Amino acid sequence: MKPLSSIADGLRQSDIRAVTARVNAVNGINLGQGICDMPAPDAIKEGAKTAIDNDKSIYAPFGGIEPLKQHIVEKVRSFNDIPVSGPDNILITAGSTGAFVTAIFALLDPGDEVIQFEPWYGYHSNLLKLRDVTQKTLPLYPPTWEVDFDQLESLITPKTKAIVITTPNNPCGKVWTREELVRLADLLIANDLYAITDEVYEYMTYGGRPHVSLASLDNARDRTITLSSFSKTFNMTGWRLGYATGPEAIIEKMGLLSDLFYICAPSPLQFGLADGFAAGRDYYDEMLRDYDRKRTMMCNALEAAGFDVPWPEGAYYVLASFKPLSGQPGFDDDQQACATLIDRVGVGSVPGGSFYTNPADGKYLLRFCFAKKEHELEEACRRIASLSDT
Ligand SMILES: Cc1ncc(COP(=O)(O)O)c(C=O)c1O
Repeated sequence: MKPLSSIADGLRQSDIRAVTARVNAVNGINLGQGICDMPAPDAIKEGAKTAIDNDKSIYAPFGGIEPLKQHIVEKVRSFNDIPVSGPDNILITAGSTGAFVTAIFALLDPGDEVIQFEPWYGYHSNLLKLRDVTQKTLPLYPPTWEVDFDQLESLITPKTKAIVITTPNNPCGKVWTREELVRLADLLIANDLYAITDEVYEYMTYGGRPHVSLASLDNARDRTITLSSFSKTFNMTGWRLGYATGPEAIIEKMGLLSDLFYICAPSPLQFGLADGFAAGRDYYDEMLRDYDRKRTMMCNALEAAGFDVPWPEGAYYVLASFKPLSGQPGFDDDQQACATLIDRVGVGSVPGGSFYTNPADGKYLLRFCFAKKEHELEEACRRIASLSDT
C-alpha cells in the first residue's frame, strides 16, 4: 500500500499519554497528564442537562451562541481588562486548542517564523510543526524563568510573524509580569509581529501575583489573539469549550476556519455554560485557595524527596529538578526517573524532555500536576516524600 501522509508518519504518542498507560497498568496515581479530576460546577451541569432535554442539539453558529458570547464579553472586559467592543471580538471554539489551530491558520503561512519560549507546551509546538512554520525558541531558566529581551530580539528576522506566550505557563508556572509584557509589546510593534497568548490558567496565580493579559495593553491589542478556556477554570477538559478574543477582522477569519475544521463547538454545552457562567467571585477565590494549598503540599513533598523545586507562580504544575538525586540508581535521566517513580512508589509524572526542542535540555526535570482530588494528592505526596526510604 502507498504510505500514509508525511504528517501522519511523523506523529507519535506523546510521553504524557504513554505515562498514563504505564501508571494505569500498576494502578498508580497519575500526576502526569494535566487532567483535573475535580467536579464541574453544578449550575453548568444543570444548564447543559436542560439544554440537552430541550433538544438544543443542532449546529450552533460557527462563532458560538450569542448569550455565551455576551457573558464572555463581560468577563473579558472586567477580568482581563481588555476593552473589547462586543461579541465580534469573541470566537467560541472546540477548546482553546481549537482556537490555537484557527489562530495559526489565520496568521501564518508555511515558512513563516514563530518565536516560542522553552520549556513550551507540546501542543503549541506540534501544531506549529503541522503548519510547517519555522520555530525559534528562547530558553527560560529556573528559578525565575526571566526573559532575556536582547536575546529575544536577536531571534527576530524579516520572516518572523508571531510570538507565542503562555501565561501562567504550563509546564514551568511562570507568570508574565506587566513590565515584561510592556517590553514584549514594544518588540511586537517595532517589528510588526502578532502575538498569540495562551491564558487558559488565568485564574491560577499565587502569592498575590496579578494575571495580566497582553491585550490589556493599548498598543498590543490590535495584534494580539488571547486564548482562554473553560477546561481548567471549570474542571471540564472533556467538554471541549474554549474561546479566543481578538481584533474583529482576525476573529472573523478564525471563525471561518473554525467552521471548516469543527463546524461549531458543542451546542448544548455552550447553552449549559451560558446558564452557569455567572459563578460569583467566591468560586474563583475558593479554587485559588485550593490550588495554593495543593501547590504547597506538592512542592514540600518534592523537596522532602530531594528535588530542587522552583515553586510555580501560576497554573497547576511543578517542573522540578532531580539533579540532586542523579547519583542514585534510577535517576540517570528524565525517562528513567519517571519510570523509577512509577515502579517504586506508583506515581506518574512527565519526563522533562517533552517540553524542549532538544529533549536533553529537560534531562533532569520531571513535571508533576497537582490538580488532583485532595486525598489522592495527599497519598501521592506521601509516596513521593517517602522516596528516599525506598
Ligand atoms: C497551556 C495549555 N493550553 C491549552 C491547553 C488545552 O486547553 P483546552 O482544553 O481548552 O483545549 C492546555 C491543557 O493542558 C494547556 O496546558
